[in-house]
Amino acid sequence: MRKVIIAGNWKMFKTQAEAQEFLKGFVTQLEETPEDREIVLCVPFTDLDIMSKSLHGSRVRLGAQNVHWEESGAYTGEISAPMLTEIGVRFVVVGHSERRQYFGETDETVNLRLKAAQSHGLTPILCVGETKEQRDAGQTESHIFSQLEKDLVGVDQDNLVIAYEPIWAIGTGDTCESKEANRVIRLIRSQLTNPDVTIQYGGSVKPENIDEIMAQTEIDGALVGGASLQPDSFAKIVNYK
Ligand code: PGA
Repeated sequence: MRKVIIAGNWKMFKTQAEAQEFLKGFVTQLEETPEDREIVLCVPFTDLDIMSKSLHGSRVRLGAQNVHWEESGAYTGEISAPMLTEIGVRFVVVGHSERRQYFGETDETVNLRLKAAQSHGLTPILCVGETKEQRDAGQTESHIFSQLEKDLVGVDQDNLVIAYEPIWAIGTGDTCESKEANRVIRLIRSQLTNPDVTIQYGGSVKPENIDEIMAQTEIDGALVGGASLQPDSFAKIVNYK
């Protein structure tokens, strides 16, 4: 059975005070949310501890936005898996296109991070997706297959979430047609050894398009950036029809 997982990715937004303000408005809107939907908030490192305490006993799971592959060491600016699990983090975004684009993340480091996360019991959310140029050149499939092949070496597919995020759709308001996202996600699934991996769509997901996205047969959830920052809009997304 494929699990439905809706995750917010706050990126570099929200101080602790703002994060707590968000929760006040958000958790009260989950009373009618079907039990079989997993809700995750992937927040900045500085918000994790206070969010973990505030979310204790709630159904919202906590996620980080990156993890290093070593348990400790001289890696200035990095955070390790034991540091995350100690404070109750369950999920971690790995290989987001912004990490690949601005911070030199490669398929090799993505692979190391995925394996480290899993070995400490974290569930990684692996992001893959093509640029506009790759799409226009007809390289969407070959690019994503290459990412999957390299990123997933030695990775346990029983504890994995994948997010298909076409880069041209991230933060642009230009959502990928839901049928096209469904087609690409079917292709991604065809490359996996475990057909039950949850595969999300990400890229300009909002309350206005979530119903159509979630109505697609292959799409098991969403990774939501901008629209996860406001309690009302993220609540509308997790409460999709
Ligand atoms: P967006 O971001 O929803 O703001 O397009 C999605 C993401 O980067 O995960």
